[in-house]
Formats: sequence, C-alpha cells, structure tokens
Amino acid sequence: MADLSPQTIDRLVEAASEVRDHAHAPYSSFTVGAAVIDTQGRVHVGCNVENASYGLSVCAERHAVAAAVSAGGQGIEGLAVVTDTSPPTSPCGACRQVLVEFGDFPVILANLEDDRILTSVAELLPDAFTPESLVKGQE
Ligand code: THU
Repeated sequence: MADLSPQTIDRLVEAASEVRDHAHAPYSSFTVGAAVIDTQGRVHVGCNVENASYGLSVCAERHAVAAAVSAGGQGIEGLAVVTDTSPPTSPCGACRQVLVEFGDFPVILANLEDDRILTSVAELLPDAFTPESLVKGQE
C-alpha cells in the first residue's frame, strides 16, 4: 500500500469537506463528505443522500467510490471522510466492505477542527471477505 503525500491528504480532506455541504440528510442531520483519489490522480467526491424510505439512504463513501468507477477510475489510492464530529467518524460496516473491493489503501478520517486520523482499509476491516476469497471458493 503506497502512502499518500501530505499534499494529497490536504486535497482529499478539502474535497470531502466541500462536498459535505451538499449532503441530503433531512432525517439524521448527520452530514458526511467523502473523496477518493484514483490511480490516475483524479479526485472523486460523494456525500450521503438520505431517503424518506430510510433504508434507501446511501453513505458518502459509497457515492465517492461509485463516482470514481463511473468516471473510469482504474483503482483507488486513498479516501478521506469528513464529518462534524469529535473525534472524526469512521466508515460504517457496509462501506468498509465496499472499500475492500478496491484493495488496501490509506483512509483519512477528518473533522471540521482539522483533526485527522490516518488509517487504512485493512485496519478498518481485518480478515475481510475479498474478491480473492470468492475465487478460492470457485477453485
Ligand atoms: N453515513 C455515511 O455517509 N457514512 C458512514 O460511514 C456512516 C453513516 C451517513 C448515512 C446517514 O445518511 C447518516 O450518515 C446517519 O447514519
């Protein structure tokens, strides 16, 4: 897993912070912004989008990943998540599983006070069920 440069971390946190302002969270009032950088160096963002049918709400992280894939991103090299919480919030279980699909990469958890926690997909979801697990079961 390659480290992110301090400049890339700043770029991701800034993009996640900006997109958080677009979150549609009328039910929880908990707004989340996420930004991923793809292997081509492009940044893709997502915010949480809630629904009156609560279970259809989608997290910011999954929207950012979907945006990267939709734009033709060939891999993900890093993710930042920004919330207005202290300490910064970590991704939910469903999002962790979605992140694992794209390998192990650095994850920055940040908040509006600019606290930052640097972790990784593997740290967030150890012993994960991965695309490799699926292949092993098919052999
Ligand atoms: N949320 C995210 O966007 N990401 C997470 O990892 C945790 C939760 C959103 C979903 C919902 O809109 C709100 O935060 C409260 O759960």
